[in-house]
Amino acid sequence: MKTRAAVLYAPKEPLRIEELELDEPHAGEVRVKMAAVGLCHSDYHVAAGNRPVGMMPMALGHEGAGVVESVGDGVTRCQPGDHVVLMFIPACGKCKWCLAGHSHACAEQTAFAKGPQRDGTYRLHNRAGQNIGQFCMLGAFSEYVVAHEDSVCVIDKDYPFNVACLVGCGVAGGFGAAVHRAQVTPGSSVLVLGVGGVGMNVLQGAHAAGALTIIAADVIEQKLTWAKEFGATHVVNASKEDVVARVMELTNGAGVDFAFEAISSPATIAQAFAATAKLGTIVVVGLTPAAIDQIPISPLQLVLSQKTLMGTLYGAGNQRVEIPHLLDLYRHGRLKLDELVTQTYALDDINRGYADMIAGKNIRGVIQFD
Ligand SMILES: NC(=O)c1ccc[n+]([C@@H]2O[C@H](COP(=O)([O-])OP(=O)(O)OC[C@H]3O[C@@H](n4cnc5c(N)ncnc54)[C@H](O)[C@@H]3O)[C@@H](O)[C@H]2O)c1
Ligand SMILES: [Zn+2]
Ligand SMILES: [Zn+2]
Repeated sequence: MKTRAAVLYAPKEPLRIEELELDEPHAGEVRVKMAAVGLCHSDYHVAAGNRPVGMMPMALGHEGAGVVESVGDGVTRCQPGDHVVLMFIPACGKCKWCLAGHSHACAEQTAFAKGPQRDGTYRLHNRAGQNIGQFCMLGAFSEYVVAHEDSVCVIDKDYPFNVACLVGCGVAGGFGAAVHRAQVTPGSSVLVLGVGGVGMNVLQGAHAAGALTIIAADVIEQKLTWAKEFGATHVVNASKEDVVARVMELTNGAGVDFAFEAISSPATIAQAFAATAKLGTIVVVGLTPAAIDQIPISPLQLVLSQKTLMGTLYGAGNQRVEIPHLLDLYRHGRLKLDELVTQTYALDDINRGYADMIAGKNIRGVIQFD
């Protein structure tokens, strides 16, 4: 069958919207009719050439939700008609990380930026007969996606797709960074550097965990206005003020207990380190360009201040448990999702959607299919 999808042919080129041939699901795979897909910065990193992937052309998109249309042989996790959120890291349930309760580190992750499906073959092909890779083994910016059943999470049918999709990456990744990875404690102080689609959810996680002082820093004033609705008690405009100095002022010279970097640069990771108190925790969420191999942090200071510097992926959560859990919080009014979607776009307008993200106009832009 045919599907229209957003494909990257070369880094730094605009995404091309084209009609592709989509194969039937193989054994263990499902076909999802996509309803909504968020414009996460991670796809843009690939398009911008910051992050090399296994092949070109590559269909991008990983923050999606839709309806299962058909399933291949042996599929047990879902059936046609199920509503699903796509998972950007599969959860096989069998590897040692999954068995230990860490499906965010599933063994299948090693192949997620390569392009083919798990059996090494491709589901998408262009008119010229070329194979098209699927970023995160999804390629979610497409009317239809064929993916492994381990990459989908079944959800209740009453959630709007345009908010459910965001739980597939930005919400789970941000909220979980605070709650699961850092384990923010009640009464603590938190700094979130960069309050975009992910950082806004770190704020929500820190608030849910009971942090008392929650400082949001961004270079866009509108993001800071929004941040206050997502739990920030203080805001710092990083284009006008010295973030570290301001954090020290707000914490009586001590620094914060937990600092999160949700941008993607060594300089802001160093700011997060400097703004953290002794014995504090720095969590790096942003994906810095692959070519960068240094962070300007003094190893001596790391020891003398006894800080913990850590990375986080997919909110350090078991997403098949976490995604329904987060949606339940939303249903009970304890997690803001509607407010994250500041603009929707048609698939044909995806390049404009990403330009708006870079210009700082959105918390999250979302591609909506008919
Ligand atoms: N670790 C994970 O699990 C995970 C999951 C999703 C995304 N990511 C990564 O997290 C990062 C953020 O993603 P996003 O989708 O929220 O992006 P985004 O573009 O929506 O947000 C980035 C924010 O940083 C702000 N910013 C830029 N420079 C700044 C500076 N010098 N100081 C303060 N703020 C600054 C921008 O104004 C924007 O609000 C990206 O690198 C993305 O690839 C990681
Ligand atoms: Zn696994
Ligand atoms: Zn993402």
